This record gives sequence, structure tokens and C-alpha cells, in this order.
Amino acid sequence: MKHAHLPIVVVGGGVAGMATALAAAPAPVRLLCRAHDGSGSASALAQGGIAAALDPHDSAAAHAGDTVEAGAHHNDAAAVQWLTGEAPCTVAWLQQQGVQFDRGVDGNLQLGREGGHGTSRIVHAGGDATGAALVHALRARVQAAAHVQWRGGVDVDALLLCDGRVVGVRTCDERGRRQHIEAAAVVLATGGVGALFAHTSNPAGADGAGLALGLAAGALPRDLEFVQFHPTALDVGGHCLPLITEALRGAGARLTDAAGQPLMRGLHPLGDLAPRDVVARRVWQIQREGGKVWLDATAVSGDWNIRFPTVLTMCLAHGLDPRRTLLPVTPAAHFHMGGLATDLDGRSTLPGLYAVGEVACNGVHGANRLASNSLLEGVACGRRLGTALARMAPSYGWQGRHGWVERGDGLPPASLAALRTLLWRAAGPVREAPSLRDAWRSCTAAADAGWQMRLARSLLYAALLRRHSLGAHCLESRGRSG
Ligand code: SIN
Repeated sequence: MKHAHLPIVVVGGGVAGMATALAAAPAPVRLLCRAHDGSGSASALAQGGIAAALDPHDSAAAHAGDTVEAGAHHNDAAAVQWLTGEAPCTVAWLQQQGVQFDRGVDGNLQLGREGGHGTSRIVHAGGDATGAALVHALRARVQAAAHVQWRGGVDVDALLLCDGRVVGVRTCDERGRRQHIEAAAVVLATGGVGALFAHTSNPAGADGAGLALGLAAGALPRDLEFVQFHPTALDVGGHCLPLITEALRGAGARLTDAAGQPLMRGLHPLGDLAPRDVVARRVWQIQREGGKVWLDATAVSGDWNIRFPTVLTMCLAHGLDPRRTLLPVTPAAHFHMGGLATDLDGRSTLPGLYAVGEVACNGVHGANRLASNSLLEGVACGRRLGTALARMAPSYGWQGRHGWVERGDGLPPASLAALRTLLWRAAGPVREAPSLRDAWRSCTAAADAGWQMRLARSLLYAALLRRHSLGAHCLESRGRSG
């Protein structure tokens, strides 16, 4: 009897998962994601764009320098060199997949500016709809690819191990029906943890479920304490908040306090375009003192329907016209620099298990990611991982002792809401050791209540172990401000 070649199972329908799946051709791939149509990923919400040294006066070395500066020099130097060197051909590959980046009247790609960048180097599509444009183009390619079988509407809640190697997954659909899939390799491309915080720019599905599953199976984490807070989510109350892209500040918008005073003046040489952690802490500080922070984008020129259609539509939906009114803004959990420890080929510490995109930590972002390096990482590392997996010897089944590792039950809604508030207060843009300790104790005591509690405990523990401020992990002594 002839046995079929086992598929590579990719979990997650964002850009990292789709780039991995496409690059793995001709190996068979099963791409599993929670949403039926692949929507719901943080990739689709990404506004800014993709950083790449495309200007003749720019260089990969300068891009690398800005990446390391933003990352507080905690970055893996080889990873940074590789990623920034790979950026121009990643943009070219995306164009081959059908992504139409915005061009100026001269026909050249338009290059925007964002925080932490010493020059304009952000390519974008549909103005501020870059993530949506990438997801749309890659999804069309994936759905047309003969080697990829797409399955939406399923959660992956357990991993199958055989003699210490991950060899399959268990899926659960909306009706609770379970299915087992044996795999040549399992790739987690499940995104970050923003939705575990009280306020986030991420979709609700960015809840760390893939990270929790990998940790439950014994894969080692890295840098879990580094969570980036975006300084300008639209402050309309609630959990998942609309993002106001940093590109708007690159186009001239300015942060002000309630008295109309510029918020960032004199605080950093790059002013409003200082790295995100710096700006987010300033906004947090004003809020903590009882103030409100506003983004004044009224001087941004050009047609908003072309330059910033996403922001315009979202603001108008909340009764705010950014062309005429100041926008109330707040920091929001945005990106997890930490994750499952991997090498640049996406290999986790557990044989057979790979991770790519935000769920992974290969060290490229250091302690604080540079703006518009995340879609870049998702696509470039996804392609690299898919190519490596395609070269693996085909597998037809695993012999040995099999056993399941489950993520476990989730928290009930009220406990989850309480956990989000706890994490926001204890592990937000500014942290204090006693609050981190108290929060860690609470999560430890309630660890059996749900997997989110155990994941939060791991994050808080990592934050407690890092006793000095670094990048996005800012520690203060009680009583001090700023
Ligand atoms: C933004 O557009 O401000 C966010 C882009 C990013 O996270 O890099």
C-alpha cells in the first residue's frame, strides 16, 4: 500500500503563515486558521507598511542601525543584518504576488516615514491599508495554490508528540468537533498577545493561543517581557481600539496635551517620531497624571481618501473628522517582541515545531521593534521557513510512543476581562517591581483556571527577572514619575 506524504501544517492565516505556505511548494501544506476567510489576523490591520532601504541615499546598513537603536541593542545582530538586507527583495516578491504599492507621480514607489527611522523608507499600499493589501494578495495566491489546502473555522488546541517530536495537531471547529492531523512539521504562525491586555490595537484573536500551546508542549520562550505599546490608538474606550498609524506623524501630525502644548518637544531628537516606547511612555505619563493626549492631524496635507483612508473611515465611524478635529489617543498593546525561541529558520527548541511571525522570537526586534519591520519579518521569515521545509525529506508517518499535549481550557469571560486589566496595570508601558510581583502571585494562584492565566504568569515572570529597564520594558521605582 502506498502511504501519502504527510503535510506541513501551518496554523495561522496572517502574512507569516501564508508566506510560509506559498514558499513550501511543492510540499503539501494544510493551512489552518480560526476565521473562515482568513480575516481576523493582526496582519490585515497593519497600516504603516514595510520598511526597506530602497532610496538610493539609503542602505540596508542604515536600516539595520535604526532597527538596533529602536531595539535598545538587544537585537540579534545576524538576524538584523539578514532581515534588513532581505527587505528590498521581499518588496519585489510581494509585487510579484500582486501587491500594488503606492507610487508617486514620477512612477517611483512612495516612501513614508515612521518613528525611529532616520529617513523615509516605508513602502505602503492603499495609503494606510498595507496589511489588508498584503493579506488580500497572498490569500488569492494561497487559495489558487494546488499544494495548499486551506481550512478556516478551526482552532488548534493540542499537539501530538512522538518520542519528543511534534508530529501532528488536533483541531476543534465551532461546533466542538475534533479532528487529528498528522504532520511532517507543524508551524505556528498565530500572532501575538495584544488581546491579553485591557487595551490593544490587535484583533481579539491575538490572544497568545499559539504561544500558550507551544509553551505547554515544552518549547522554550525568549524575551516574553518585551511587549510594545503603540502610542496612538484612538481613545474611544473598550478593548480592541482602532490604530492611528504612526505614518500620520510622519506626514506632519503632532501630539499635544490638553492645553495644546506639543507633547514630545525637547524629549527626544526625533520629537514626535521618536521610537514607540519613548512616545508611548510620554502619553502614559500624561494619562497617569490625569491628563488627556490628542493627536493634531489637521495640518496633514493631501487627499485623506488616498493617503489615510483607513484612519479617516475609522475616525468618521466614531464621529471624529481628523481633518478638522483633534483625536483623543491612548497607548495600546501592539506587538510582542518575545515569543517562542527560534532560529532564523523558524526552528523552535522542540523538534518538529516551528514558529514564524509575531509568535516567534528570533531576536531580530530586540527589546522594541522598529516601525514597519513586522510585516517585513512575517513575509521574509515565512518565505525562508517555507523554503527550508520544502527541502525536508518527505515523511510518511511517525513510529514510536505518541501522546497529546493540550493547551487546556480558557478562562471564563469575566476572569479574562479581569486578567486583561491586571496585565495592563502591572505590565503596561511603565512597570513597577512590586506590582509585577503581586500580579505574578495572583496568576500563579489561579494558574489552573485557564491557559491565559499560565501564559500571563510566564510573561510576568520574565518581566520580574529583568530588573533593569530595557526598550519596551520600562521599570520604575514606586513614587517616581516620568
Ligand atoms: C503603524 O502604522 O503605526 C503601525 C505599523 C507597525 O506596527 O509597524
